[in-house]
Amino acid sequence: MAEKSFKYVILGGGVAAGYAAREFGKQGVQPGELAIISKEAVAPYERPALSKAYLFPEGAARLPGFHVCVGSGGERLLPEWYKEKGIELILSTEIVKADLPAKTLVSAAGETFKYQILIIATGSTVIRLTDFGVQGADAKNIFYLREIDDADKLVEAIKAKKNGKAVIVGGGYIGLELGAIMSINNFDVSMVFPEPWCMPRLFTSDIAAFYEDYYTNKGIKIIKGTVAVGFTADSNGEVKEVKLKDGRVLEADIVVVGVGGRPLTTLFKGQVEEEKGGIKTDAFFKTSVPNVYAVGDLATFPLKLYNELRRVEHVDHARKSAEQAVKAIKASEEGKSVDEYDYLPYFYSRSFDLSWQFYGDNVGDTVIFGDNNPKSPKAKFGSYWIKEGKVVGAFLEGGSAEENQAIAKVAKLQPSVQSLDALKSEGLSFASKI
Ligand code: FDA
Ligand code: NAD
Repeated sequence: MAEKSFKYVILGGGVAAGYAAREFGKQGVQPGELAIISKEAVAPYERPALSKAYLFPEGAARLPGFHVCVGSGGERLLPEWYKEKGIELILSTEIVKADLPAKTLVSAAGETFKYQILIIATGSTVIRLTDFGVQGADAKNIFYLREIDDADKLVEAIKAKKNGKAVIVGGGYIGLELGAIMSINNFDVSMVFPEPWCMPRLFTSDIAAFYEDYYTNKGIKIIKGTVAVGFTADSNGEVKEVKLKDGRVLEADIVVVGVGGRPLTTLFKGQVEEEKGGIKTDAFFKTSVPNVYAVGDLATFPLKLYNELRRVEHVDHARKSAEQAVKAIKASEEGKSVDEYDYLPYFYSRSFDLSWQFYGDNVGDTVIFGDNNPKSPKAKFGSYWIKEGKVVGAFLEGGSAEENQAIAKVAKLQPSVQSLDALKSEGLSFASKI
């Protein structure tokens, strides 16, 4: 079998890979030096589109419209861009073996790839209900959403099961975004999750109450405090019912499951230091193995602002960590260095006409402010997180670009507050005057 050799290999062809390639392009890369190896069949794209505009009933986003780097307002990197730069896109190629001491990767088809410097950007995969043996979870029309192929299968099912019933399992990011999308596609939607409120990883009960009421007003049925324990299928093997732990049974034509992600570190087990479920890196995304970097979802990196090692499964960090790693690689080749990664966590989501942003850390006491009536035509509300007398996190629904910048500044600067009551009554104006 053929062997190919590159100076730099990026393993994975997702968000981090695309932004790393752009940075290589900016810093200067010789034709033939860089390859991206991806099991997906398409050039890197903005993954967030898959749970939003890609599934719209009309005017849906399609490639090449959302290749990186449009998501952050940059130029779109079409397959031709890689060709012009002499960057090899090795697509539909799954790496099944990595030998870090030998600097070698082997694909499922048996090809060998050698590198001098490796950037691991394999991201996350979905946790499946079959992983914990949920009965009937392999029925047809039970979907997960991670890659464009998954989204294409869901689009087909949406067409085939027009105006049907959808059950969404999970109340996290995927749950909330897909609940909305299925409702927009005119499905009768039920959402099921075990916690007392949606998005418990981030939302307070106050924040969650707004979204749950909003969704309920759109006709979505929210079933909390229980889980799916089994599925029944019809004679075609297509899912028919979802059985819940509390004994209820829901009819379903389509089930979408979003019960969390898992970083794809398997290939490197025992070869590189791990921490908090990811590959441990320094502030330049260097791993414990020389010349091997890890970026995006699977990197556990020092979050300078909180003096703590963290993993972040969001697109802004995937972009910025990739850029940081490439800058560090290029600088070290010239005997120079770059500043340490100094990241301010930033998460966002959009569904229906809603749009929120969050910056910082969701720890400590909270105050909610603004108009959080889900029936208001232009509800705008937010929340601050306060730790040791300082505002460390801020959330805003319905903010303008300037207002979102203001809450980002608050989370970064961590101003002191005199009293929680004063902060609550000042609300957004507290952020605007910082
Ligand atoms: P990413 O998953 O993007 O890329 C990994 C790549 O590696 C894939 O191309 C995969 O095929 C490839 N790969 C894995 N193993 C391989 C192997 N063995 N061989 C070859 N290739 C391999 N975040 C946010 O902030 N806002 C948002 O709105 C959203 N929305 C959103 C929607 C959906 C549907 C998902 C799944 C995720 C989001 N996210 C998000 C999260 C965000 O997309 C995520 O954090 C980044 O894509 C992470 O980028 P990475 O490059 O690390 O992984
Ligand atoms: P998540 O961690 O956000 O949410 C998982 C949800 O499933 C939680 O509410 C959890 O309690 C629930 N759950 C767990 N076990 C369950 C069970 N047996 N039955 C029912 N519910 C159960 O994960 P996700 O929503 O699956 O998202 C996957 C990945 O994609 C994450 O990395 C996420 O950050 C990313 N993503 C991000 C965005 C965004 O940032 N806007 C959008 C989509 C996806």
